[in-house]
Amino acid sequence: MKKIIVTGGAGFIGSHVVRRMVNTYLDYEIINLDKLTYAGNLENLKDIEGRPNYRFVKGDIVDAEFINKLFEEERPDGIIHLAAESHVDRSISDPSAFVMTNVIGTVNLLNAARSTWEGAYDQHRFYHVSTDEVYGALGAEGFFTEETSYDPHSPYSASKASSDHFVRAYGDTYGLDIVISNCSNNYGSHHFPEKLIPLAINNIKHRRPIPIYGKGENVRDWLWVEDHARAIDLIYHQATSGATYNIGGHNEWTNIDLIQLLCRVMDQKLGRSEGESAKLITYVTDRAGHDLRYAIDSSKLQKDLGWKPSITFEEGLEKTVDWFLENEEWLERVTSGQYLDYYKQQYKG
Ligand code: NAD
Ligand code: TYD
Repeated sequence: MKKIIVTGGAGFIGSHVVRRMVNTYLDYEIINLDKLTYAGNLENLKDIEGRPNYRFVKGDIVDAEFINKLFEEERPDGIIHLAAESHVDRSISDPSAFVMTNVIGTVNLLNAARSTWEGAYDQHRFYHVSTDEVYGALGAEGFFTEETSYDPHSPYSASKASSDHFVRAYGDTYGLDIVISNCSNNYGSHHFPEKLIPLAINNIKHRRPIPIYGKGENVRDWLWVEDHARAIDLIYHQATSGATYNIGGHNEWTNIDLIQLLCRVMDQKLGRSEGESAKLITYVTDRAGHDLRYAIDSSKLQKDLGWKPSITFEEGLEKTVDWFLENEEWLERVTSGQYLDYYKQQYKG
């Protein structure tokens, strides 16, 4: 029996990881530890709520006492750590929240793992889920590899870089079994509508302006969230201790080309005439310190663990649009804030 704590399991990527682990490993015990910030939504996991191998624990990784107690009581075999403040624009307006959760929260988890697993580090695993944004920005050429030097520019990426360094330091200094993966931009179902793709889907649906920062020339490498969850599963189970893996879709789009494609898909799905949604595109003031281009070389993961993306971007984007249009209630409850009441009703908390 394997007991795994997944932190941030009520968020976008975390909910896909939790669902995958609960559905795949019936003999495991998956504990979803989440503070339920504005980005945490237990409605993302309604479909697996009653499963015998799944449990939700509400808690803050910044609270060291709580985390130590949880580790002592549960004595998990491993942790897959996704809980984070994740939105670059929020990190520009409030950097401190990112230091607290992403840096202090990660160190609290490392300390709890270190003391609970002492004497048996080789039988436990600490997996930190990180981002390609720690590598900084690329020009027109080249890719981020696992050897690329860290060069974060936003408070968000600086906090993730810092937490990556702490995770490696605990591996090197105390001998904890650690693994880290750095992934490119994800997209898919249950994506919180503050990020580019779900925000644009929501605005197109309601015929509101689609804000494009600067000239729309920044490039992101988009990966289907379920392919990320599958990579996390593989890496957690098969990576050697201390390993780092880059995860990405080999799928680069300028923001403006991506939004043009999304507008075409939405026109079709909503029965609008071609070009109607694209009229909503509105150029707005650029993000401060906006990284020009991210692109991942994921050949190590492909070669070592046989992973590759399972669908094309066109397929994934269509599936994503379909999901958002079929789950209007989810989107409405998230945008109106009603989803925040779900925990109280469900868990009488
Ligand atoms: P998200 O913002 O959708 O979810 C974050 C989750 O963490 C939420 O459920 C939130 O309630 C929880 N959380 C936040 N602070 C917490 C705290 N102090 N204690 C406990 N729980 C807390 O984020 P996401 O997009 O799903 O990203 C998950 C992880 O993957 C993050 O570590 C992020 O850096 C990384 N990542 C994200 C992307 C992406 O494209 N979204 C790409 C690469 C890596
Ligand atoms: P985002 O989804 O916030 O992810 P990240 O900043 O982590 O890459 O943004 C993706 C790209 O889209 C990024 O280049 C910023 C840009 N963007 C816009 O042009 N308009 C928007 O309203 C948002 C949220 C993002």
